[in-house]
Amino acid sequence: MNIGILGSGNVAQALGRGFAHLGHEVMLSSRIPEQGKLANWLKDIGKNGSYETFADTATFGEVIILAVRWSGVENAIQLAGIEHFKGKLVIDCTNPLRFAANQAPTLDLGHSDSAGESIQRWLPDARVVKAFNTIGSPHMVNPVFPDGPPTTFICGNDAVAKELVTRFLYDFGWGVVDSGDITASRYLEPLAMLWILYAIHTGSSDHAFKLLRK
Ligand SMILES: NC(=O)c1ccc[n+]([C@@H]2O[C@H](COP(=O)([O-])OP(=O)(O)OC[C@H]3O[C@@H](n4cnc5c(N)ncnc54)[C@H](OP(=O)(O)O)[C@@H]3O)[C@@H](O)[C@H]2O)c1
Repeated sequence: MNIGILGSGNVAQALGRGFAHLGHEVMLSSRIPEQGKLANWLKDIGKNGSYETFADTATFGEVIILAVRWSGVENAIQLAGIEHFKGKLVIDCTNPLRFAANQAPTLDLGHSDSAGESIQRWLPDARVVKAFNTIGSPHMVNPVFPDGPPTTFICGNDAVAKELVTRFLYDFGWGVVDSGDITASRYLEPLAMLWILYAIHTGSSDHAFKLLRK
């Protein structure tokens, strides 16, 4: 499939590499893609990878992944062109983080709203599925931990879209828990904060969540 990734940072590069290695065509994007900052990534990916504007990437993607800093998500969607999202699966990896100097990030919204819900409102004709937001980018693809595959929690309103995301996640080596409709983002985003705080306290990003069942 054509996977269009809005973003050029750690998440975009990690997921782009993962999807390309599975044989998908992957396009990453930036506000100014000619910066050359993805030269090494492009060299590594080879013919399955490219790097364009947000609009070109949203047009290209049969599946679109949002891997943009929260403060820029609405702008990225506008630059991409809302019409290019119509009917498509949109995988939302974002966390609504607010950054301040010398402090741990905090959540910009919560309890009665979330990034996932905001994105579904901004893209009413897209099928938004939240995924990959509770793990650091180094372990998004092929997460190897001593106790077996960790769990990624997903949510979204469209069952078929969630099935496709679940297949991608299985291909990447994840256990998957469907947490319900997109309002469950209200709980998955604070879970990401827990992951981030643990990373700050331990100085490591080698941890992941796993749902244990009997
Ligand atoms: N890093 C992780 O391990 C991790 C894990 C889980 C979830 N997440 C979430 O995934 C998302 C991506 O994280 P990241 O660490 O890869 O990168 P990031 O630094 O959070 O975001 C980088 C991307 O955001 C874009 N961006 C920033 N401001 C923008 C604006 N005003 N308008 C349009 N685009 C803008 C940048 O575009 P340009 O290329 O044009 O500069 C860049 O492509 C974030 O929401 C983050 O919270 C991150």
